[in-house]
Amino acid sequence: MDKKSFFLVLDGIDGSGTTTHSKMLASYLEMLGLKVHLTQEPSKNEIGLLLRQYLKNNEIPPSTDALLFAADRDLHYKKEIKPKLDQGFIVVSDRYIESSIIYQSVQSSDLSIEWIKQINTFAGSPDLTIILDIDPKISLARKDQKIMEKFEDTKFLVEVRTLYLNRAKEEGYNVINTDDIIEIVQQNIQNMVIKKLKEKGF
Ligand SMILES: Nc1ncnc2c1ncn2[C@@H]1O[C@H](COP(=O)(O)OP(=O)(O)O)[C@@H](O)[C@H]1O
Ligand SMILES: [Mg+2]
Repeated sequence: MDKKSFFLVLDGIDGSGTTTHSKMLASYLEMLGLKVHLTQEPSKNEIGLLLRQYLKNNEIPPSTDALLFAADRDLHYKKEIKPKLDQGFIVVSDRYIESSIIYQSVQSSDLSIEWIKQINTFAGSPDLTIILDIDPKISLARKDQKIMEKFEDTKFLVEVRTLYLNRAKEEGYNVINTDDIIEIVQQNIQNMVIKKLKEKGF
């Protein structure tokens, strides 16, 4: 295979800026003349659309959430991400496996990280995962308070943040703090991504 590809994920607690920065990063890489495919989780397939509705519904058991997120990701990887990688694209995903590992395991002590990893076995691993980090008090203040979804309360997000940081240490993920203005944060992300792309021969 002579086509170079790169699978890059921005993950982090709600309001840390994964959506903002995935979009900006994809535009930047395109501006450099690279082939880029921007995507997000939940994905745009039917399971992803169902998940978007479930995010507004507190009655759904965490185990159902976990299974649906894994099914969405399996389809997302096989039908969208992998084909794009095979065509030599840089795929940028706004959230991926790490969101499931963190959110579903914090949601319920019955769901172990090991089990969540297992049901996600078939989805391919990213070349680079960047964790965006911020104090939940700041991130929640940035969100429109009227349209809060079920994962968006401070106490829950403090636990989520702690687990993101612990797992980042364990897995060797790069962590970027997003307290600063958007332009400075984006610059830090771009610097990190360019360094990794160069290492991969881009
Ligand atoms: N560094 C920042 N400074 C100020 N506002 C920000 C910053 N990063 C993101 N925002 C704003 O915070 C809100 C949440 O950002 P978003 O990218 O949707 O976060 P996420 O996708 O991680 O939940 C958006 O309104 C966005 O414009
Ligand atoms: Mg988002």
